[in-house]
Amino acid sequence: MTIIDGKKIAKELRHAITKEVKKCSRPPGLAVILVGDDPASEIYIKNKSRACVEVGFYSDQLHKSANITQEELLSEIHRLNANKSIDGILVQLPLPAHIDSNSIIEAIRPEKDVDGFSSENVGKLMQNKPFIRPCTPKGVMSMLATLDYDLKGKDCVIIGASNIVGRPMSMELLNAGATVQICHKDTKDIVEKVRTADVIVAAAGVTHLVKEDWVKEGAVVIDVGINRLANGKLTGDVDFDAIKDKALAISPVPGGVGPMTIATLLENTLVAYKENSRRLEEDTSNN
Ligand code: GUN
Repeated sequence: MTIIDGKKIAKELRHAITKEVKKCSRPPGLAVILVGDDPASEIYIKNKSRACVEVGFYSDQLHKSANITQEELLSEIHRLNANKSIDGILVQLPLPAHIDSNSIIEAIRPEKDVDGFSSENVGKLMQNKPFIRPCTPKGVMSMLATLDYDLKGKDCVIIGASNIVGRPMSMELLNAGATVQICHKDTKDIVEKVRTADVIVAAAGVTHLVKEDWVKEGAVVIDVGINRLANGKLTGDVDFDAIKDKALAISPVPGGVGPMTIATLLENTLVAYKENSRRLEEDTSNN
C-alpha cells in the first residue's frame, strides 16, 4: 500500500517552479481577490499568497468588502486584465449572493484565468486540447503520475459533480484513457457503483462518506474532501484508517490533495506567464 504524500510531491513541484522563476525576465505575477470575510476563504488566500512569495512570484492580494457591487468587481478584473505585471487572476469562490460569479469568471481573460474555470478553458479541457487546467483535478493527475499505474481502461468513479472538482476531474481521467462515472446526490445505488471502481476520487464534502465496504481490494483512493471536525481537526471524505490496508494507494487528509492544489496554482501561473510573455513579445514585434 502506498500513501500518496501530497505534501512531498507539492514541495518538489514548488522547488521546480522556483528554479524556472530564476530564468524568467520578470517575476510571474498573481492577483488574488477575496470578497467579504469568510474565515476559511481568508486562510486559503493567505496560503496561496504565501506560496507565491516563496517561489519568487509577485503576489497582489486584494481584499474587497462584502458590499462591493458587480460593476466595481468587474472593473477590478478589467484593470488586472490590462496590468502587464499580472499573469494570473484568481477570484476566491464562493462570492456573495448578490454577485453573479459566472460573469466575474468570464470577465477574466482566458490566458490569465489560472483557476481554469472560464468557459474557454473548460471547453479546451473537454476537447482534450487543454490550456489552463483547473488546479485541484490537475493536482490529482500529478499525484497519480507518481504511481506506477496506467489509467488507460481503468474504471474511475468520482463522487461529486462540482465545477471546481468533479466535472473537470472527469475530463482529466477521460483524457488519460480511463472510463469515468460521476456520482452525485441524486445517484442511485452509489455504493454498488463505487465498489466497481479501480480509482475512486471522493469530492463530496461529507466527512468519511466513503467507508471500508465501499472500496474494492486494490483500488486507488484519492480524497479531495477538506472537512473540519468539531475538535478543529481536518479530515477527508474517506475513512482513511479503515481503508488504507485495502487500497493499492491512498491520499491522506491533511497532506494529500490540499498542498497539490496550491502548488498547481503556481504551476498554472507559470503557464500563464509564458503565454502572456509570448503575446507581449508578439505585439512588440508587430508594432
Ligand atoms: N474555492 C474553493 N476552491 C477554490 C478554487 O480552487 N479556486 C477558487 N477561486 N475558489 C475556490
